[in-house]
Amino acid sequence: MAARPGDSEMRQRRVPVCRLEELGERDARGFSLDQPTEGHTAFVVRKGKAVFAYRNVCPHAGNPLHWKPHAFLSKQRDLILCSVHGATFEIESGKCIGGPCPGRSLAPLRVSVEAGEVVVYPD
Ligand code: FES
Repeated sequence: MAARPGDSEMRQRRVPVCRLEELGERDARGFSLDQPTEGHTAFVVRKGKAVFAYRNVCPHAGNPLHWKPHAFLSKQRDLILCSVHGATFEIESGKCIGGPCPGRSLAPLRVSVEAGEVVVYPD
């Protein structure tokens, strides 16, 4: 079957999250994958110059990780923290390294910084 005009755009759904400078060197921001709906169905994490994105679903029991808006990091801001039972995840890989689900991982999302804007491609 031939591709129809617009097929590539449909596969390339683009979700702008924020400007890179709105995130601190170790900072996180929740956002909705179904904008303009409010809520945190996903989040981005900045670590230095790099940005990572994950779905907001803990692999332990399926809960959202945050306990208040944009609160996805440990106190030291060096790990992603699930507020429900305390699982900790590496920022770069999303792999659980502490708590009740060691070895399991957050679901990553494709993210890029385009002209200073953090953009997630969920599909
Ligand atoms: S739901 Fe995240 S640690 Fe249990």
